[in-house]
Amino acid sequence: MTITLSVIKADIGGYVGHSESHPDVLAKADENLAKAKGEGLLIDYHVTKCGDDLQLIMTHQQAEDSEKIHKLAWGTFVDCTQVAKKLKLHGAGQDLLSDAFTGTVKGLGPGVAEMEFEERAAETIIIFMADKTSAGAWNMPLYKIFADPFNTIGLVIASNMHSGFTFEVHDVKEHKKITFNAPEEIYDLLVFIGAPSRYMVKAVYHRETGEIAAASSTQRLSLMAGRYVGKDDPVCIVRSQGQFPAVGEVLEPFTLPLLVEGWMRGSHHGPLMPVAIVDSTPTRFDGPPRVTSLGFQLSGGKLVGPRDMFADKSFDNARQQASDIADFLRRHGPFEPHRLPLEEMEYTTMPQVARKLEGRFIDLD
Ligand code: 13P
Ligand code: 13P
Ligand code: MG
Ligand code: MG
Repeated sequence: MTITLSVIKADIGGYVGHSESHPDVLAKADENLAKAKGEGLLIDYHVTKCGDDLQLIMTHQQAEDSEKIHKLAWGTFVDCTQVAKKLKLHGAGQDLLSDAFTGTVKGLGPGVAEMEFEERAAETIIIFMADKTSAGAWNMPLYKIFADPFNTIGLVIASNMHSGFTFEVHDVKEHKKITFNAPEEIYDLLVFIGAPSRYMVKAVYHRETGEIAAASSTQRLSLMAGRYVGKDDPVCIVRSQGQFPAVGEVLEPFTLPLLVEGWMRGSHHGPLMPVAIVDSTPTRFDGPPRVTSLGFQLSGGKLVGPRDMFADKSFDNARQQASDIADFLRRHGPFEPHRLPLEEMEYTTMPQVARKLEGRFIDLD
């Protein structure tokens, strides 16, 4: 059975500030998707949130980039924005950069990760969602999952993974893509994906079978809007078990609270803290950035689950480390490298402030 899994997300209003989603907004999204399921457009769905981002997880047979599915998501975000406006939530409609739907949500503000595949006898799926960070945050975790034998022992001892994986990398500034084969091209791969604000792992494929293994959202709000409107807060889908890394191998990279860009006003580096859905409430300095993960087994496209994977106690150390790193970084206040480098700031919030002082700069002798 060919199934498409679409994860489409948007921040359409925060409660309180940018720290959480309001239950009425989630209820409205649930109502819309239940209707679409009743009408047969969706096989199944799960509505959730990561911080102030509304997450629509949907299975269907309309393939990727389906106008019908994107329209459903867009309409749901518009309806939920109405709820957010009524409650006067913060930044109602924040990520909806257009007044009109144009056949796809791509380029309109929401983030999208989609993949189509033949459902396996046991189809294990992990969906990662982040808040207070940028697209590109998945680069290091995806590298570790699919190319690092110190993370994924399956690359070494499982014969069905030994041939490695192919990484599709997007240059979001020049609008180009390139593919690299791991393991033999990992140095070439790392030159690019080590700079995640520009080069992002869009998808990963199994080398031998060509099967899709992972897909991520690479939409950058600031590039779309030409100014800072909020962070991308990306999502990522990973297939697991069998010819793909085991669940524990997929989750293992998040034991490192890696430094990502985002946090307060989207303008800082901070540790990515793995948390249960209920704890995706970035509060301290609007953070630190959070990552959540839901696991499902698919059965005829039905989402059996979710299991909240980061609720597990084995991530307590990573959370404590993230808090310790947060303490350390916060003491740098407005200084780099806590604050983002100049190049990033020039793209976002700095020009407005700098413009005011333009006339005060005088030439050096
Ligand atoms: P089980 O024997 O419990 O299925 O585990 C196999 C495995 O791949 C663990 O990572
Ligand atoms: P969001 O992108 O999650 O809305 O956060 C924006 C922000 O400015 C937080 O300080
Ligand atoms: Mg917000
Ligand atoms: Mg957000």
